[in-house]
Amino acid sequence: MKEYTGADLTQIVIDEFKSRFKKELVLVASPGRVNLMGDHTDYNDGFVLPAAIDKKIVLGISPNGMDKVRAFSIDMNESVQLQVAHPKQSKMQWANYLKGVICELKEKGYSLGGFDVVFSGDIPIGAGLSSSAALEGALLIGLTQIFDLNLNRSEMARIGQLTEHNHVGVQCGIMDQFVNLHGVESSALKLDCRSLEFEQVPFERDDIKVVLCNSKVSHNLADSEYNVRRAQCEQGVEVLKKYDAGIQNLRDVSRELLEDHKSELNELIFRRCKFVLDENERVHAACKYLAEDDLEAFGKCMFDSHEGLSKEYEVSCRELDVLVEIAKEQSGVYGARMMGGGFGGCTISLVQEEHVEAFQKEIAKEYRNSTGIEIEMYITQIASGAKIIQDSLTPKLK
Ligand code: GLA
Repeated sequence: MKEYTGADLTQIVIDEFKSRFKKELVLVASPGRVNLMGDHTDYNDGFVLPAAIDKKIVLGISPNGMDKVRAFSIDMNESVQLQVAHPKQSKMQWANYLKGVICELKEKGYSLGGFDVVFSGDIPIGAGLSSSAALEGALLIGLTQIFDLNLNRSEMARIGQLTEHNHVGVQCGIMDQFVNLHGVESSALKLDCRSLEFEQVPFERDDIKVVLCNSKVSHNLADSEYNVRRAQCEQGVEVLKKYDAGIQNLRDVSRELLEDHKSELNELIFRRCKFVLDENERVHAACKYLAEDDLEAFGKCMFDSHEGLSKEYEVSCRELDVLVEIAKEQSGVYGARMMGGGFGGCTISLVQEEHVEAFQKEIAKEYRNSTGIEIEMYITQIASGAKIIQDSLTPKLK
């Protein structure tokens, strides 16, 4: 993936759009995300602590007065046409996100016309930074603007999630789409994935950097064990709800109830459920530590979370484990963990500013020695959610 500065990316999309379609457009910027704490808790109706970041997709869009969609991905150098009435599944994965969003909007009764769309981004694909949620969010914001849809951001997040379920094959939770649409600068969001209530948790500090280490092991959640993990949690709930009719999801299960019925769950299901309960508690603890400015305790939570994801939930891989192990040995590191669905992608590390340079050097060297892979690292800032950055169209439409 090419590296652009923000301004370049915007200009590249404008130029490409105008040379293809020769008209005005609406431009949307839509961020990737990190997750500070709480993985595999969202689809268990639990809590998460993600933040939107300064890596993003920029998308240009305009109605075309036809009954079809003409779409171009600059980074893939691929174009596709879809019929708005019957968009077909495509061999190009990116096109299926478009198809999914169109179908899910129509399913909810929104009427759409044809449109032209061009996009590019600097969120590495398959790196666990939610480039897919960024594309869904960008398109939803763009379509809402050009067709004047009456849709709020939480409804958009649900539509993005349904796109993954019904058109991509990932039974994901709502975290990625939600933070893509609700993120705010300088704060993480503590999100209750059941009620969708959330609070802003101030996070950014000048003396601490969020360093993402891309293992370069690319994941594909649709092919991975992700859906299996979700089914295992549901299996646990099936057994446990016999003892409490109020249990709908692992969110409702207490530690006591889980321990009391351990023998009725097989060892694997017990381990998966226990991890989810622990990880959920870690989100609450992590927020408390942040409020108390106790970064040592926050960092320990990160290491514990990684240990659980790796050993109990088994969604890590050797390369991610190696990255966390190396990080643990470095000076000035509060904590590190894998994040997102797992099986590859990035780790997130909190590093004291004055140690960042040495950290990057050491990680690159040690990771190369142990895996033969040249790492990529990004020092990331917390940014705002998907938004319109330019609209030279709407005043003319109205
Ligand atoms: C992926 C999914 C999210 C969430 C994370 C794990 O990113 O899209 O819904 O389940 O994995 O926390």
